[in-house]
Amino acid sequence: MNTKQSILVWDIPTRLFHWLLALSFVGAFITAESERTRDLHLLFGYTLLGLIGFRLLWGLIGTRYARFRSFLFSPTAVRDYLTSLLTRQPKHYLGHNPAGSLTVFLLLGLGLLAGITGWAAYNDTSGGEQLEELHEGMANAMLVVVFVHIAGVVVSSLLHRENLVRAMITGRKQGEPEQGIRYRHAWLGAILLATVAGFWYWYPQTLAAPDTHAQVAQRMTHDDQRHEIH
Ligand code: HEM
Repeated sequence: MNTKQSILVWDIPTRLFHWLLALSFVGAFITAESERTRDLHLLFGYTLLGLIGFRLLWGLIGTRYARFRSFLFSPTAVRDYLTSLLTRQPKHYLGHNPAGSLTVFLLLGLGLLAGITGWAAYNDTSGGEQLEELHEGMANAMLVVVFVHIAGVVVSSLLHRENLVRAMITGRKQGEPEQGIRYRHAWLGAILLATVAGFWYWYPQTLAAPDTHAQVAQRMTHDDQRHEIH
């Protein structure tokens, strides 16, 4: 007997995290090249870093399918899942499937490294370019994984006849009632959203504020060093 019904799989903080992360990544990427959009680039970059910090914590203490241990798979499990896709008899997972989980960990890891190297490059007073190149490399690698991630979502959705994008919006999938999570954690979602909104309101003001003498002096030294190198 099929007892499947609409059940809650993704809590609100996880869904908000996802769409804010996607927005921050796209925002940071398209504002990366021009000096005119540098402040926006910093805003999106710091948001991305903060979001990943939150997700690392939520992966340890969050709800069932948001916890890392629910989607830690062995290489064999990833291989078996990919083989099952080729034979068009994919094994179904309510949370992240083994191939999807690989892209999730890669995106979190690369996002963290891109954010840290970006911060380090911006605050680097030695004028070296290695950090900048490393930062760009991380961001480009992340872009490649994002494309693989989106392709994987489309393929899985088609093969399982399950709209994964809608599930990441509503939080719901078809499953047995006892497999669902109980709480949406709307309060934490509200805190996450308020924190991001607060940061977006506050951060531009710190950039617009007149610099202290120490900051001006530091920037001048930084620029001098750059000129000496070039
Ligand atoms: C239009 C673009 C995107 C779509 C449609 C999309 C869709 C999805 C879907 C459906 C899932 C859940 C997969 C599952 O059921 O196993 C997911 C998870 C995830 N996606 Fe995306 N995604 C997009 C862009 C991005 C971008 C740009 C990033 C990162 C830069 C990203 C990072 C992630 C991460 C980290 C997860 C895991 C969520 C969690 O467990 O917290 N996605 N995405």
